[in-house]
Amino acid sequence: MEQEALEEYCEAHSTPQSELLYRLTRETHQKVMNPRMLSGHLQGMLLTMLCRMMRARRVLEIGTYTGYSALCIAEGLADDGLLHTIEVNEEREEMIRRYLAQSPYQDKIQLHIGDALQVIPTLQEQWDMVYIDGDKEQYTDYYEMVLPQVRKGGIILADNVLWGEKVIHEIRSGDKDTKAVCAFNEHVQNDERVTNFILPVRDGVMFIEKL
Ligand SMILES: C[S@@+](CC[C@H](N)C(=O)[O-])C[C@H]1O[C@@H](n2cnc3c(N)ncnc32)[C@H](O)[C@@H]1O
Repeated sequence: MEQEALEEYCEAHSTPQSELLYRLTRETHQKVMNPRMLSGHLQGMLLTMLCRMMRARRVLEIGTYTGYSALCIAEGLADDGLLHTIEVNEEREEMIRRYLAQSPYQDKIQLHIGDALQVIPTLQEQWDMVYIDGDKEQYTDYYEMVLPQVRKGGIILADNVLWGEKVIHEIRSGDKDTKAVCAFNEHVQNDERVTNFILPVRDGVMFIEKL
C-alpha cells in the first residue's frame, strides 16, 4: 500500500506521459493479458532519458509486448537513431503497429515479430543499449548473445530482476522463472567483462555496463 502511494507520488511529480502513451496503457489494461508487464510511466521516462543522455543511436529491445517501452526508447534516440524491437507473440502485432503508426518516432522503430534467439543473430549492429524484457528463462541466453555486439561503454538493462521480491526468498520447487532470474543475476555478478548494479525501481532493473 505504502509502495503504491509512493509510486503515485513519484508519478504526480514527474512530467506527465504523452496522450499516446496514456491511451496505449488504457487499451493494454482493457484488452491484453497481463497488463502489469507494461513498463509504465516512471520506467518509460528512465528509458527515454537514458537514451537521450547516451545519445543512443542503436538500441535493441527484447520483448515489445504492446509497445510502451519501445515508444519511450525511440523518443530518447539521437536524430539518426534506430530501435530494433522483437516480439515473439504475433497476436500483438496489430496493436503494436497501430500505436507505432501514431507516434512521431515511428520511423525510428523497426519491429521484428519472431523469437529473439532467432532474430538477434540476423541483426548486424553494434548496440549502444539493449533492453532485456522477454522470457525470464532466457535472460542469460539473450545476455550472452548480445554482449559481444554491445559497444565498449554500452549498457544492457534487464527488467524484473527482483521478480516480485521472490529473489530474496527460498525458491519453491518448480518455480522455473525465479530460478532463472536468480541464475541470471549471479551470472552477471560474476562476469568480469561488465560492471553492474540493481536499481530497485518497480520490479528491479539491472544496469550492466560493458567494460
Ligand atoms: C514483460 S513483456 C515486455 C514489456 C514491454 N517491454 C513494455 O515495457 O511494454 C515481455 C514480452 O516478451 C515477449 N517474449 C517472450 N519471449 C520472447 C522471445 N523469445 N522473443 C521475443 N519476445 C519474447 C512476450 O511475448 C511479452 O510480450
